[in-house]
Amino acid sequence: MMRHFLNLADAGPNGIAAMINDALERKAARAGWPKGRADADAPLAGHVLAMVFEKNSTRTRVSFDMAIRQLGGTSIVMDAGQMQLGRGETIADTARVLSGYVDAIMLRTDDHAKVEEMARHASVPVINGLTDLSHPCQIVADLLTIIDAGHALPGLKVAWLGDGNNVLYSIVEAAGLMQFDVVAACPQGFQPDEATLAVGGGRARCVADPREAVAGADIIVTDTWISMGQAHAETKLAAMMPYQVTAELMAAAKPGAHFLHCLPAHRGEEVTADVIDGPRSLIWAEAENRLHAQKSVLRWCFGQIG
Ligand code: CP
Ligand code: NVA
Repeated sequence: MMRHFLNLADAGPNGIAAMINDALERKAARAGWPKGRADADAPLAGHVLAMVFEKNSTRTRVSFDMAIRQLGGTSIVMDAGQMQLGRGETIADTARVLSGYVDAIMLRTDDHAKVEEMARHASVPVINGLTDLSHPCQIVADLLTIIDAGHALPGLKVAWLGDGNNVLYSIVEAAGLMQFDVVAACPQGFQPDEATLAVGGGRARCVADPREAVAGADIIVTDTWISMGQAHAETKLAAMMPYQVTAELMAAAKPGAHFLHCLPAHRGEEVTADVIDGPRSLIWAEAENRLHAQKSVLRWCFGQIG
């Protein structure tokens, strides 16, 4: 079996639940092992994952590389600029060619239509490693982190602060699929569009007041104010400043609330250093969980779970 993972909806609630459970089990089973040792069952032995990057990456690149190794397979990592893709070879032709060499393809790019195009023409699973629209692999790791920290998804309230971006899209999609609530506080002009809120199936809303968003929240999330591919704009940074996650804002959330950030972070912009480096921050677990989540995404793509 082969499945593409372009957005969380491709997996649906059962697929996402299966990924989280699988990741929790596999993470526990190899606790303390050297990172390069394969899992005992090596369920993707002999499989090769090709990764194509049109944008920078640290976490996605290394976590997918280690994920396929721990599953018994290997990887090929490519920067699109050094491929013929960078001089105009089409996505469709690249998809057909790579499908003859490798068993799965991960693409990080700008326009979401490019991962859809890759999936249409590939005969192996295609994974969205971030587009301008969404970042589904990040949110599988975030849900894993939330559950690992002792929260339950039913009844969960997530507050998003700042830019209505690609990471928020996938959080809203997760809320609709897994039945939790998201309140996004974003400044005028940087709010998620109607289509983004619609993927939440009524579980997501947008407010102007950051205090309203964090009231009763279990999880506070933010992300960079300037995403990859966006121009650095002082006007945008100024509009975002009231949405900075501060200790004061954290104190207005539920007692025991946790902080998430997909990273890379800009201390002093979207979040203050005392919050991101403080006791309520789960960012290092969240980053490590990218590895455990990617393994379950890969296994789901090959029909081994869910
Ligand atoms: N969070 C995330 O996707 O990080 P990278 O850009 O480093 O892959
Ligand atoms: N919103 C950010 C996420 C980086 C992982 C970006 O697209 O640059």
